[in-house]
Amino acid sequence: MSDGRPRLFPSSRPAGHVPPIVRYSSRFDHAPERLAVLFMGLSAPDGNRAGRALADFLAAAGAAPDAPCHFDRARFTDAEGRANHMAALYWPDRDAFDRWAATPLIGEWRRGTRALAEDLAQWWEPVSVAPQRAETIAFAEYRRGLSACPFSRLEPMEETGYWGAARDRIPAAAFDPLEAEVPRLAPLDAPPRARGARLAVRPPAGLAVIRSGVSWAACGAEQRESYARNVKPKLDAGMDYLRRSPLDAGCPSLRQVVLADGDGRLLEEAYSLGHFLSLGHLEAWAKHHPTHLAIYHRAMAERKKYQAALELRTYNEIYVLEPGAPEFEYVNCDPATGLLPYFPARALPPAG
Ligand code: HEM
Repeated sequence: MSDGRPRLFPSSRPAGHVPPIVRYSSRFDHAPERLAVLFMGLSAPDGNRAGRALADFLAAAGAAPDAPCHFDRARFTDAEGRANHMAALYWPDRDAFDRWAATPLIGEWRRGTRALAEDLAQWWEPVSVAPQRAETIAFAEYRRGLSACPFSRLEPMEETGYWGAARDRIPAAAFDPLEAEVPRLAPLDAPPRARGARLAVRPPAGLAVIRSGVSWAACGAEQRESYARNVKPKLDAGMDYLRRSPLDAGCPSLRQVVLADGDGRLLEEAYSLGHFLSLGHLEAWAKHHPTHLAIYHRAMAERKKYQAALELRTYNEIYVLEPGAPEFEYVNCDPATGLLPYFPARALPPAG
């Protein structure tokens, strides 16, 4: 998609390409200057404590003026073995998010008053970009994340089923190579003293944030078994590779999470929240690395086999950060959390 001006960078769509199956992208009639999503999580060795704190945070988040118009919650265990309870919260525009974040109650949460009082770790990673720097791909009847927001209208699109389709779905890519501000990932000489502290990290421009999800909830016995046997192990291997090879992949952070209901019980759907130095780094893994190719070829084989009867549901949303994007904030975290191992952090005033 481009805005009608002649493209500077060509689309990758092969001439005459017909999408193998109908997929949809979100359109936004309210024309926001910037979208806003907050990925945040609380963790502790004892998951119950983190789960209770997240439930209280979500209650506060929903009661504050300019509350998010959509959110979902998820769980995962991090590399330190800590149970993380996290949420993805969505706003129709950046101004509404900023007003919400500036309310006194949310300010208390953001500064980590509860986290420090209960020795929880809290990560707070807002993502806000112009809609021209974002893309979504979804099935019409299975909407999650940005596609599930009340302000998202799904439209069928043609940019699917070939390499480079994700970039073609990002309107800004017609005029901007969306390059990395930091082209190679390198660990800091000394990890920051993060436990007990409140730290802010400026995410580099060009950072590509992907939420890539899958649901097996609607699968009957045969396709459920096929997902568990043929797809899930390949997905796990791919995520394992990204977590173990951040420098090679240019992937500073990768969280593989399972969605949870309001009581924190796990659902039959999951997603990966990944940060890559640029869209190009993300594309390189997807197109060239054997771990994604294994997932992709298996998924394509299942699509071919089941066609309209395919029951597995997948989606993703990608954001490419601009210069001056909101900072990520970490309270009382392990120094291996999020962007902390790779980008300089500055200390923020502790919670009062
Ligand atoms: C069950 C899990 C997954 C399945 C079944 C899957 C399958 C696929 C398929 C079929 C496509 C082509 C989509 C189209 O254009 O129609 C694709 C593209 C892509 N996938 Fe995956 N994938 C999975 C997980 C992931 C994860 C976890 C990530 C990143 C962390 C990822 C990153 C990408 C990217 C960036 C593309 C776009 C490539 C491009 O358009 O050039 N995928 N995947």
